[in-house]
Amino acid sequence: MKNIVLLGGGPEQVDAIKISKELGYHTIVLDSNEFAIGRKLSNKFIQCDITNPSEVLKHIENLNVNGLMVHAIELSHVVAEVSEKLGLPNISKNTAINTTDKLKRLEILKKNHIPCPEFSSATNLTEAKKIAKNIGFPVVIKPVDNAGSRGVIQIKNPEKMEQYFNESLTFCKNKKEIIIEEYLTGPQVSTETVVYQNKCYTTGFSDRNYSNLKKYEPYFIEDGGDMPSNLPIETQKEAIRIAEKTIKTLGINFGAAKGDILIHNNIPYILEMASRTSGGRFASHQVPAATGVNILSSLLKMSVSDPIDVEEFKPKFYRGSSQRYILPPPGKIVSVTGVEEARKIEGVIDIILSDDLKQGNTITNMKNHTNRKGVIITAGETRNDATEKAVRARDLINVKMR
Ligand SMILES: Nc1ncnc2c1ncn2[C@@H]1O[C@H](COP(=O)(O)OP(=O)(O)OP(=O)(O)O)[C@@H](O)[C@H]1O
Ligand SMILES: [Mg+2]
Repeated sequence: MKNIVLLGGGPEQVDAIKISKELGYHTIVLDSNEFAIGRKLSNKFIQCDITNPSEVLKHIENLNVNGLMVHAIELSHVVAEVSEKLGLPNISKNTAINTTDKLKRLEILKKNHIPCPEFSSATNLTEAKKIAKNIGFPVVIKPVDNAGSRGVIQIKNPEKMEQYFNESLTFCKNKKEIIIEEYLTGPQVSTETVVYQNKCYTTGFSDRNYSNLKKYEPYFIEDGGDMPSNLPIETQKEAIRIAEKTIKTLGINFGAAKGDILIHNNIPYILEMASRTSGGRFASHQVPAATGVNILSSLLKMSVSDPIDVEEFKPKFYRGSSQRYILPPPGKIVSVTGVEEARKIEGVIDIILSDDLKQGNTITNMKNHTNRKGVIITAGETRNDATEKAVRARDLINVKMR
């Protein structure tokens, strides 16, 4: 039996842990939280700081590990560093860093003429204002090294920069530095690609739903997405071509790559390309519902050097699939009702509620994706059918606030 180490045992990682067990791997789960929900599903659980490569290595180096993986957490640099030390398949540490640090990534994109927003970076307000003036308002500011839309804010004028620069700075993890980007407009898509034996297989392509863009300004709150894409087929092909070119340019030669692409003036701009699987149940639920392809299974096998068949990346069917989020207004939760009725709607695949969506808990202003409180995933004959079901299910769930 092969031994696989999975970083993280939270609610999103449960999907990967379950598949790993189904594939027959001895599944070792690491998490800093001793009560992590994935603990009871694992074959072995180790409590440690998974953001620290030396800690992870110390705990697993004598366990005869055949593979190491992380699902839906921005930790590809940890996986890369530990894999390198243990001689396990993965991308290089350098590539992992270049695809996690947003500034390094933009610099590489620009150097290689891949369409991306105009950008620069600042460590103080004066610098930030100067850069924004050069780029031209509105701009977007974001921490160099965070994810989940934390600290990503639209800035319309210099006064707003004063108001929000320090807020964005609080979300910097290791480096107190803010990127200032040109604000681009247009439809947005999520992509997911697996790189196997140096070939790209883009298995996920979904239209992101930003119909709430105005409502949550200056923050960017995505309310799910829909498959298949409604974009013209030529635009989709071009977006995939640019995504795969970006993956090669960044040196992602193994495993998952998740892209955020914005189509501005008919050109696909890369907002993000990360060397990991996406969060938000895209890989584990939405893409499987639309096409029958579940890359988690392929990625787990690749991690322990088991062979895979590239047929695994081919759609088994073409259906509609949608996701919508529960986005309660700020306040104190009085009650949450309607969840069971919503589950009964035909086509509802899953409804996953955040642990803190409970009576008595306080909901803060919607500022980033960690504030979303639950997700509904549906499948339908067509995209419209799936979307209608997701919206109907979401509307049935009533979060009463005080
Ligand atoms: N330059 C830009 N122009 C327009 N919109 C942008 C720009 N940069 C970011 N956004 C919006 O903000 C969202 C989050 O930005 P980004 O992807 O850089 O952050 P993230 O922390 O990786 O968040 P996510 O989890 O949403 O991917 C984007 O998906 C997009 O909707
Ligand atoms: Mg992003």
